[in-house]
Amino acid sequence: MSSSQTLTTLFIFSLLTISYAATDPFKLPKHTNIHFPIRKNQTSLQYYTTFEAGNPQSRTPIDALIDLGAQSVWFECTSYVSSSYKRAACGSNRCNKASGSVCIGCNSTPRPGCSNNTCGVYAYNPLSAYLTAQELGEDTIRVTSSNGNTLLLNYDVPKFQLSCADSGIVEGLPGDKTKGLVGLARTQVSLHSQISSTFNFGKKFALCIPSSSNTGLGDIFIGGGPYYMPPSNEDQSLSLVSTPLVINPVSTAPIYSEGDASDEYFINVKDIEINGKRVAFNSSLLSFDKNGVGGTKISTIVPYTTLHSSIYKPLVKDFVKAAAANNIKRVASVAPFGACFDSKTAPKTITGPAVPDIDLVLEGKTVRFRLYGSNSMVEAKKNVICLGFVDGGAEPRTSIVLGGHQLENRVIEFDLDASKFGFTSSLLLWNTSCSHYRLP
Ligand SMILES: *[C@@H]1O[C@H](CO)[C@@H](O)[C@H](O)[C@H]1NC(C)=O
Ligand SMILES: *[C@@H]1O[C@H](CO)[C@@H](O)[C@H](O)[C@H]1NC(C)=O
Ligand SMILES: *[C@@H]1O[C@H](CO)[C@@H](O)[C@H](O)[C@H]1NC(C)=O
Ligand SMILES: *[C@@H]1O[C@H](CO)[C@@H](O)[C@H](O)[C@H]1NC(C)=O
Repeated sequence: MSSSQTLTTLFIFSLLTISYAATDPFKLPKHTNIHFPIRKNQTSLQYYTTFEAGNPQSRTPIDALIDLGAQSVWFECTSYVSSSYKRAACGSNRCNKASGSVCIGCNSTPRPGCSNNTCGVYAYNPLSAYLTAQELGEDTIRVTSSNGNTLLLNYDVPKFQLSCADSGIVEGLPGDKTKGLVGLARTQVSLHSQISSTFNFGKKFALCIPSSSNTGLGDIFIGGGPYYMPPSNEDQSLSLVSTPLVINPVSTAPIYSEGDASDEYFINVKDIEINGKRVAFNSSLLSFDKNGVGGTKISTIVPYTTLHSSIYKPLVKDFVKAAAANNIKRVASVAPFGACFDSKTAPKTITGPAVPDIDLVLEGKTVRFRLYGSNSMVEAKKNVICLGFVDGGAEPRTSIVLGGHQLENRVIEFDLDASKFGFTSSLLLWNTSCSHYRLP
């Protein structure tokens, strides 16, 4: 760890817990927000967080996949015990408020997740494409405040809505311990929406996604900044630049009603450039057609940015050309990537291997999402680095799905009130990263 990273490490004290008094909403001091950690599973390339649920005498820690595109929070509850857990009955107010609810029953011994006359809501595992109606429950969850650099206090948030799911749903989740999912989409029951309304925050959250969590963890910040920033933040370029969030008029959820817009996060990519030179492709792929096909979304589930073939092919071709001009030697490709290089011919820099820069040119005045080598290249095997994009085929629903590897090691912010996606440049430019905070 460099000294600059040590400086920004969050030190954990044994935190005091504030309990909710039913009448007051929680009020946090100015410039504080709610924080959850982000870990990365290096094998499955998925990101997950941990939250604690249940009555304060017996909290259960739950590891849960982070899915920007998912609508709700669910976890596998077959062995969950909590005296504060409450299911919603069919026809109850809570049930009527939940979109797409159905009435379900259960044939086995009653427990959380198994009751008759229960309100069911859809839970979806994007990794196994498992979709079922599961019991709508609520329980207390414990959350922690932070000022961007230091964790401050714990709060027990009551009546947090989550669905309590059967064991079939966990298949494909990263690791034996991951038993749930936290959705961060633009819905009322996503993690950030529920926390924001408990604490009376504006609708805003930010992520600092780590490329590895071996030395430190990344962050989900809910509420306004300050977010984690490296030490020298007088530097202007560290501030967030932003581009509008755009709405796809047709839902991308596994189940929806006709006329529903998508609650995932889309941005308007206008061009892709390699070393300042535009990649030529049919730009109508970058907007939505009447069926909501096309456009660019941001995903924490897709490990590598996935492109429509008609964008992928010219991108690879132009990148190979620009790399050759820099004397970077091409070698045999390693699946699923289309262009790989001898890493000895691309010298290491502070932002990864010295390869041509890739810019996503976004809506707004000179707004560019720049990908240096650390975000564009993947070490596929010894001495081989590959362009970390994959071919999404000729008919993908979304033309560009900006994936995890390309989002790592910068602060990205979703400001739903202002409808903006903000981002910093790579934190590696400041000799720091999103692997910055340590648990005791
Ligand atoms: C639900 O009702 C069925 C049929 O009456 C019964 O067999 C089952 O045990 C009940 N389930 C629970 C969890 O009480
Ligand atoms: C990472 O994911 C793989 C594959 O899903 C799993 O086998 C492994 O146990 C996970 N590692 C950790 C540390 O959870
Ligand atoms: C671009 O794609 C659109 C939609 O697929 C098509 O209608 C149009 O003709 C294409 N334009 C060019 C120049 O190929
Ligand atoms: C980052 O570290 C490198 C090498 O350790 C050093 O040369 C450089 O000045 C540092 N940059 C910053 C912004 O601290």
